[in-house]
Amino acid sequence: MRLKNCYKSADFRELARQRLPAPLFHYIDGGADDEVTLRRNTEAFEDCDLVPNVLAGVKSVDLSTEVLGQRLSMPLFFSPTAMQRLFHHDGERALAAAARELGTMFGVSTIGTRSIEELGAYEDVPKLFQIYIHNDRAITTDLMARCREANFNALALTVDTIVAGNRERDHVTGMTTPPRLTARSLASFALHPRWTFNYLLRERFDLPNVSRYIKQGSSISSSVINYINDQMRRDIDWDQAARMVEEWGGPFAIKGVVSVADAKRCVDIGASAIMISNHGGRQLDGSCAPFDQLQAIADAVGGQIELIVDGGVRRGTHVLKALAMGATACSGGRMYLYPLAGAGTRGVLRAMHLLRDEMERDMMLMGCSSVGELDRAMLAPRSPFRGSV
Ligand code: FNR
Ligand code: LAC
Repeated sequence: MRLKNCYKSADFRELARQRLPAPLFHYIDGGADDEVTLRRNTEAFEDCDLVPNVLAGVKSVDLSTEVLGQRLSMPLFFSPTAMQRLFHHDGERALAAAARELGTMFGVSTIGTRSIEELGAYEDVPKLFQIYIHNDRAITTDLMARCREANFNALALTVDTIVAGNRERDHVTGMTTPPRLTARSLASFALHPRWTFNYLLRERFDLPNVSRYIKQGSSISSSVINYINDQMRRDIDWDQAARMVEEWGGPFAIKGVVSVADAKRCVDIGASAIMISNHGGRQLDGSCAPFDQLQAIADAVGGQIELIVDGGVRRGTHVLKALAMGATACSGGRMYLYPLAGAGTRGVLRAMHLLRDEMERDMMLMGCSSVGELDRAMLAPRSPFRGSV
């Protein structure tokens, strides 16, 4: 697979599969347990169809929308993900560059591989920092102060990861961070000399947002799973979330909400946005897909809080369906992680330009010139054809 032959997410996924040692590919690609939720996240979009309006006189398409206080030139942005520099040495810089070129926002994970301070230098690019409530509350407070200092525009509090999901593929491959050469993984690293060469010669692996507080963040081979299980506070509750919203005082998203009751509580505590998400199917397997929950959540709290559909987005039409159902915007991880792993910044740019072109073309085909024109009348549930009786 060559980058120039990649058109759809499945192509970029294949490129990533070829370029990455197996433990890393499966860390990105995999989900929890039987991966039912992982699959459903994308399949959910196929349960309804778009109903276009023709002869609509569309001259041009404006994809822009406002999310978390930022005007984005398209209704799709980069969810925060961990470990990016392990997938490609460009890491978070690829996302910052692509967000700048496409006029969108990028998320940075607490367990990201470039620092809040370094990424703060991308002054003209909208930035969201993803935060966890750590057992040591001082860490969380300090992270917020650093984000403020670095002019991050928004915070997203991840609430679905109080304990790590059971990613069985990672057990099989022996995934650790940083990767450790073991008898099991050796062959895979040897078969991917370009990745291994870059990994050994480029900057040493680090988790610069947390390594100053926690030894595990620097050189000790551990697993993300251990990190989450050791460092994250399990008994987080709505009072703690409300205090954070207040402490931050700016645009604030709660990431990992799927129930209507929780969506209402997000409104009550004054959050700006809900990222309707199940962490890309990596946490509670068997839980519901963001798009499946969107209708009920939009009915309950639409207009009172921004709704971001996070998970399963692989096509421009998925975004259009979410917006028609009532979402403010969508966000995604694997849509940029496969191309990042496959070809660094060039890969992310190609994948995201393709997705933006798709959204633009499909808006024209829908008869819409701005995202505000998409509505539920343009969605039809897929019902089985019964024939004549
Ligand atoms: C993630 N995600 C994630 N979320 C988060 O809040 N903090 C994190 O550090 C990470 N790390 C992470 C690593 C990898 C490899 C993946 C694939 C995902 C979840 C991410 O923000 C987002 O919710 C999902 O990726 C959405 O699903 P899709 O778009 O990948 O289908
Ligand atoms: C993951 C964690 C890091 O999904 O959020 O792997």
